[in-house]
Amino acid sequence: MKKVALITGGSRGIGLGIARRLVLRDFSLAINGVRDPGQVEEIMAELRSHGPEVNYYQGNIGHSEDRQHIVSRIKDEMGRIDILVNNAGIAPKERKDILETTEESFDYVMGVNLRGTFFLTQLVANLMVGQKKENAENFNCIINVSSISATIASVDRGEYCISKAGTGMVTALFAARLGEFDIPVYEIRPGIIKTDMTAGVKEKYDKLLENDLCVQARWGEPDDVGKVAASLADGNFPYSTGQVIMVDGGLSLPRL
Ligand code: NAI
Repeated sequence: MKKVALITGGSRGIGLGIARRLVLRDFSLAINGVRDPGQVEEIMAELRSHGPEVNYYQGNIGHSEDRQHIVSRIKDEMGRIDILVNNAGIAPKERKDILETTEESFDYVMGVNLRGTFFLTQLVANLMVGQKKENAENFNCIINVSSISATIASVDRGEYCISKAGTGMVTALFAARLGEFDIPVYEIRPGIIKTDMTAGVKEKYDKLLENDLCVQARWGEPDDVGKVAASLADGNFPYSTGQVIMVDGGLSLPRL
């Protein structure tokens, strides 16, 4: 039986980069996203062309009912979840200085990036605990995609930074809780990655990259994250639960 990976926000950007790598490693994929199935049909067909089963589960991870629905449908249709990739995330609709940030924007970002991630992880973690009790040899893991914003302060999108810092604690908490079941929990912190999320600030980052923002002087690609996630999902880091892996071209490397 093929292993099943649930990737939230897996139909574009970093999530799609991860999906493309996992499908090459023969994982069956449960792709979640907010878009209508019709809008992602082409992408799903591309992923399916590699062989494994690929199903799309529309739903907002910020909504409790959607989370329940997504997970119970995957259980019914695919039988299990071996790998959870918490990738779905949003930026504030408008970047605002923290002296001006609204409560509405704070709740909007936090509701998806932190509350959604926490409670989806809770749901899937319980499923994985049941699976491990049935077969302790089977490798299950959880991968959280947070951001360099977990530790680097951007005062024009504070709510995003707080949500990602919180995701760091979600990683630590579930790593600590799931240790007894031998389910590792990892976190990937991407830097500046070329996706729809960063399309609106491309010029700003182009300039910063020209001026040594990163050690590796280029944009990150979704595939840079995909390769790391695939290696984690393959079980190559079984004794490293709770670890954070930077995929930021050295942006966070202290330099003089
Ligand atoms: P993106 O905007 O291109 O893609 C995000 C995906 O998540 C989309 O498929 C979208 O449909 C889905 N999504 C959004 N809200 C959702 C919800 N409530 N429920 C289910 N799915 C939802 O973004 P990108 O750049 O691919 O980002 C992916 C993750 O990586 C996010 O968590 C983001 O915060 C993080 N990240 C991105 C960086 C970048 O430079 N692009 C850098 C560091 C972290």
